[in-house]
Amino acid sequence: MSASTGTQTARFDPPGSGLRGTLRVPADKSISHRAALFGAMSPGAVRVRNYLHAADTDSTLVAVQALGARVERGDAPGELTIHGVGLHGPRSLNGPIDVGNAGTLMRLLPGWLAGQPGRSWTLDGDASIRRRPVDRIAEPLRRMGARIDARDGRYAPFTIRGTTLAGIEYELPVASAQVKSCVLLAGMATTETRIVEPVRSRDHTERMLALAGAPFRREGTHMRIGRVDALRLDAIDVPGDLSSAAFFVAAALLIPGSRVVLENVNVNWTRTGFLRIAERMGARIGGELEPHGGFSAGEPVSDLDVVSGLLTGTTVEADEVPLAIDELPLVALLGCFAEGETIVRGAQELRVKESDRIATVVDGLNGLGGDLEATEDGFVVRGTGGLRGGHIHSHGDHRLAMLGAVAGLASREGVEVEGMEAAAVSYPGFAADLATLLAR
Ligand code: S3P
Repeated sequence: MSASTGTQTARFDPPGSGLRGTLRVPADKSISHRAALFGAMSPGAVRVRNYLHAADTDSTLVAVQALGARVERGDAPGELTIHGVGLHGPRSLNGPIDVGNAGTLMRLLPGWLAGQPGRSWTLDGDASIRRRPVDRIAEPLRRMGARIDARDGRYAPFTIRGTTLAGIEYELPVASAQVKSCVLLAGMATTETRIVEPVRSRDHTERMLALAGAPFRREGTHMRIGRVDALRLDAIDVPGDLSSAAFFVAAALLIPGSRVVLENVNVNWTRTGFLRIAERMGARIGGELEPHGGFSAGEPVSDLDVVSGLLTGTTVEADEVPLAIDELPLVALLGCFAEGETIVRGAQELRVKESDRIATVVDGLNGLGGDLEATEDGFVVRGTGGLRGGHIHSHGDHRLAMLGAVAGLASREGVEVEGMEAAAVSYPGFAADLATLLAR
């Protein structure tokens, strides 16, 4: 890697032989955020094993400490004890809470704070977070009685004025686990809140609520939460992140002669859409995935065993989008190597991620020799059997940086990724882990 103008530029060349080896990917980012928040909302000590230490989840630890939680680091990496302040105990602050680049923190934390009568907090973050909408959480929280004042009505910085919340019935206009989770957290301060999601999305908050003894019920896409006086949680074990593993799944599929085993990966059905899409394209992936639509109080884990192979195009429709939302850039990459067309529809949410991922993925992969077309709500990829290679910019988006790296390994001429440092948002050790699969 070489450094230039404050950003890192890194080159990824075709390795000449397949990827080989076994890897333990970092802890799940979504679950780590929730572990920190649930720890902070608990009345006593919660032991967390395998917390993700990355820029995003470090922002959450700093935020909960500012709100009064005490965080003790254990001997093992990722081991924490969080001494929470209880559901009614977050302390007032003089300045804003800095969420950094973390959309999940920005959208979940207000659910807790909104139910604190007479107190207010301001949330702000980096340039990317200031472009991501918060009106989607402000709307239900206002209906519950809280006051939210946001810049231009929909962006950070924004202020939450807490109150005694009233329960609502809320039909989510977008299939967003962040919005759903925000309303569920606020719902703990009401007699009853009912939520309907248009299609299933990741359910880590629901599983943690069930684990903590909250009166939570789910039937398909309908759920209910009632008042909680105190969460009852002793320990949270964070599994490996499917979204991080997915980069190596894609690399192993695309680089001939590869066989990679990814250990201890979260295979919660609401997260494994990418694996099902890849299997439809012809991928062979071994592992014990959670069966169709399952729901439990814990998170299922499995090792994934991936070998390279030929792929054919597929179509991803709206109901599958939330189950693979963060991996859709990788679906585009697989599509470049597959035979025929790969189409993603109903994925307009990609436009409000860490970057506009429809634009950045389509332009980025076209710049490497791909044949992709952006649509309003997704993209069409015409498979050409491979990618030439070239230069791609991360636009400060961690998943785009890692996409560029995998594209480089699978390409004919290699790829230079500008802004590689963005990977540290979810996966600081990405390049080092990749190197262990190359060095055999
Ligand atoms: C997340 C939900 C998804 C996902 C994000 C993490 C979460 O966002 O893209 O990376 O932890 O709940 P949306 O719920 O806004 O789609």
